[in-house]
Amino acid sequence: MFKQIFTGVILIIILTTIASQKLNKDNSIFAETIYGPIEGFRHKTRNGIESNVFLGIPYAKPPIKDLRFEPPIPPQKWNETLQTKKFQSSCIPYNWESIQNKDFSEDCLYLNIIAPTNSSKNAEGYPVLVYIHGGGFVFGDVVKCGFDKATDNFAKRGLITVTVPYRLGLYGFMSLGTAEDPGNIGLWDQIAALKFIKDNIKYFGGNPNNIIVWGESAGSASVDLLSLSPHSRDLFQKVIQGSGCGINEFANSQPFIPDKAYPNYIGFGPRYDKNFFDGKTVEQLIKEAPPKPLIVGLMTLEGAAFTGLPGLSPEDLAKFSAKNITKAIRKSFAPESIVGPEFEEIQRDLINYFVYQNAPEKPVSDFYIKRYADLWSDFLINQEVFNEIDLKVKNGWPVYFYLWNHMSSPVQATLPAAKV
Ligand SMILES: *[C@@H]1O[C@H](CO)[C@@H](O)[C@H](O)[C@H]1NC(C)=O
Ligand SMILES: *[C@@H]1O[C@H](CO)[C@@H](O)[C@H](O)[C@H]1NC(C)=O
Ligand SMILES: *[C@@H]1O[C@H](CO)[C@@H](O)[C@H](O)[C@H]1NC(C)=O
Repeated sequence: MFKQIFTGVILIIILTTIASQKLNKDNSIFAETIYGPIEGFRHKTRNGIESNVFLGIPYAKPPIKDLRFEPPIPPQKWNETLQTKKFQSSCIPYNWESIQNKDFSEDCLYLNIIAPTNSSKNAEGYPVLVYIHGGGFVFGDVVKCGFDKATDNFAKRGLITVTVPYRLGLYGFMSLGTAEDPGNIGLWDQIAALKFIKDNIKYFGGNPNNIIVWGESAGSASVDLLSLSPHSRDLFQKVIQGSGCGINEFANSQPFIPDKAYPNYIGFGPRYDKNFFDGKTVEQLIKEAPPKPLIVGLMTLEGAAFTGLPGLSPEDLAKFSAKNITKAIRKSFAPESIVGPEFEEIQRDLINYFVYQNAPEKPVSDFYIKRYADLWSDFLINQEVFNEIDLKVKNGWPVYFYLWNHMSSPVQATLPAAKV
């Protein structure tokens, strides 16, 4: 379904400009930017699709030393042709024990451009798809996106892809809730990248007035917020939100308030402030932001990865039962301390819905595993996404919804019960 909608979008947005990229005999490609010339390369995928690839283009001055924790500032101009043929280091994640690619640096504000090799037939240039990665605002990168899929899927269809890293965790989202340290630095990085793209994408054959900003998970929450903030909402035209929004708990934009139970705890994520948010809430901003065409999507069993079940032995999974979900609802999802005096009624409703409704006569563990993943999906992502869609529709946003229900075999292998 996503594919159909997406193809639809791509067909609607028909393509172009005179690309000013030049190919050399050795496959080098040269392009201008307003900061100086760059040299990338011509890439050909196994499917024979070609693209012009530029990796590691600086979109801000390295945010190091005095610039650490500061909003990004434009890069310094360069005179010599800058080599942009390999990815630069990823931004430093909060916790990297489980992360494979460990090439990190504070100096990480470099974007990547994958463009069709031909000029667009539309004099205004190709539409531009800007991808903001997920990772809960504390990890993630765009190196793993590579440039092969963007070539096969997007360059082939006349779209320019730009992948954007931004500062994470401590470096990007630490906030003390004070004027000196309002936070949202990672969101300001994303804005700096959008400005760079708007100013430079014409040199790559792109249309600066046809920019689609697409994010997944925390990236999805980011693009939602970018489409609302007065500092960014006029820098692009269309939005694709995959599995997340700005009012999700994980993106919860609260000012820093010391937690009573954990006074030293600081969460990393967007914070309501007087600058990026203009002193307003997401709900208030939706009322004033100009509506944009928006594709919003969710996946079936969206929350499966958060259940703690992937990786358990088949024997342990086979023991998963109604009792496990009931206990989780009582202890973690809806205890009195969270939902208040009506907790018994709320727990009963949740248990009826997630444990008993549509249960087969002789339920097996697979049934409960799926329902537990559904509980996590609704709790973490779905309910706020639907709330926000309602709000946007009421405020005149054209919203297109998709549900992704394909599960790749690697995903199914992590949780066999998740087969659909
Ligand atoms: C680039 O050239 C200009 C003019 O010659 C010069 O003023 C500037 O310092 C040079 N910049 C760098 C980074 O070399
Ligand atoms: C690009 O141009 C070449 C040569 O004219 C042509 O064979 C190819 O089909 C074009 N590709 C696209 C995506 O338009
Ligand atoms: C499910 O509950 C049983 C019995 O209380 C417990 O031993 C088991 O660890 C639980 N499984 C999971 C995955 O939490």
